[in-house]
Amino acid sequence: MTANGTITPAPDENEALFSPSLISPNVTSALPDGYSMRPLQRNDFSNSFLDVLRVLTQVGEVTRDEFESRFDQMKASTGGYHILVILDGEGKIVGTGALIVERKFIHHLGLVGHIEDIAVAKDQQGKKLGLRIIQALDYVAENVGCYKTILDCSEANEGFYVKCGFKRAGLEMAHYY
Ligand code: ACO
Repeated sequence: MTANGTITPAPDENEALFSPSLISPNVTSALPDGYSMRPLQRNDFSNSFLDVLRVLTQVGEVTRDEFESRFDQMKASTGGYHILVILDGEGKIVGTGALIVERKFIHHLGLVGHIEDIAVAKDQQGKKLGLRIIQALDYVAENVGCYKTILDCSEANEGFYVKCGFKRAGLEMAHYY
C-alpha cells in the first residue's frame, strides 16, 4: 500500500521482457527434445540466468532487486531489448542471447539490430544451442523490421558466427571508461 492508501499491485513474477509471439516456432521445434525457448522473465534471477552469463564474462554480485530494476528499465524502453533464454528438460536456463534494437533517423527511420551477450552453459555447448539462439534473434530482428543485424566478437568466435550466416564487415573500435 502507498502513503495515500492506494494498493500497488504485486509485480507479475512471470512477466516477459518482450512478446513471446516473437519467438520463432521453427527454431523452437529444432531444439533438442525437452528443451524450450522463451523471453527472459522477471523471476529468472533465481534460474541460473546470471550463471550462464558468467561463461561469457564477469557479471559481479547482482542482487535480486538490482536484477529486477534493470529488467524494468529494459522493459520500459519499448521494443528495444529482446533477451531470450533456452531451458533444458528440467526448466533450467542453459543459454541466452540478446537483440537490442537501435532506432535511427537514417535509412528512413531505419532499425538496426545489435546481437549481444550470447552464452551457452559450458556443459551444454556443441548441441547447436548457440546456433538456435542466433537464428531466434534473427527472427526477432526481421519481425520487428530491422534492415540489418550486427555484432562484435573475438577472432576465436568468428567461425561460429560464419556458421550462423554472418560475414566479417568493418572494424570494431572502443573506448573503455
Ligand atoms: N569457432 C568455430 N566454430 C564454432 C565455434 C567457434 N568458437 N563454436 C561453435 N562453432 C561451430 C560448431 O562446431 C557448429 O558447427 P557445425 O554446424 O559444423 O557442427 C556451429 O558452430 C554451431 O555451434 P553450436 O553448437 O550452436 O555452438 P554452442 O552452442 O557451443 O555455442 C558459443 C557457441 C555461444 C560461442 C558458446 O561456445 C559460448 O557460450 N561460448 C562462451 C561465451 C562466448 O564466447 N559467447 C560469444 C560472445 S560474442 C557476442 O556475444 C556477440
